[in-house]
Amino acid sequence: MNNIAILYGSSGGNAASVARQVQDLFDGKADIFNVLEVTLDEIKDYPYYVIGTSTTGIGDLQDDWEGFLPSFARMDLAGKKVAIFALGDSASYSTSFAESMKVVYDEIKDKVRIVGQVADEGYTYDSSTAVIEGTWIGLPIDEDNEYDLTQERLEKWVESLKNEFI
Ligand SMILES: Cc1cc2nc3c(=O)[nH]c(=O)nc-3n(C[C@H](O)[C@H](O)[C@H](O)COP(=O)(O)O)c2cc1C
Repeated sequence: MNNIAILYGSSGGNAASVARQVQDLFDGKADIFNVLEVTLDEIKDYPYYVIGTSTTGIGDLQDDWEGFLPSFARMDLAGKKVAIFALGDSASYSTSFAESMKVVYDEIKDKVRIVGQVADEGYTYDSSTAVIEGTWIGLPIDEDNEYDLTQERLEKWVESLKNEFI
């Protein structure tokens, strides 16, 4: 067992693929789990989590997370750190871009330390509840319109997380 667990939920495969990229960038120091099939027992002992979700509906959490997030939030999370990434489509869903990360944030923000906030630079969208005082509460990724920026965004983000997950 490593000390970083990447937990993802993905409906069409984009969040899954991004989760695997995140795992690669942690150089073998992170384990990866699909929340569709994970048990709390498998993940409860990790001190650091990366939560990845795609956005569905209008700003909603990915379906598999809907079932798993309440259980995750009920674990003993004292002293743990969590970073969140969310997939979204900034063109077709410009007024709810990547808002699923806000759903995760609201559920756990009083229980864990949220890390991995990102400056709101280089994104084009109209509004998102996941931006608080000009800063994203996690990392937005847009595979539909800006897939060419994903690797660079992930590299920068994971480098910043390495300073938190030690
Ligand atoms: C029915 C549906 C609703 C969506 N709603 C949103 C939304 O509200 N905000 C957003 O940023 N993206 C939204 N998206 C875009 C997806 O989040 C995006 O395509 C993502 O890459 C899908 O990831 P996945 O393949 O891991 O499920 C929606 C996509 C679908 C199919």
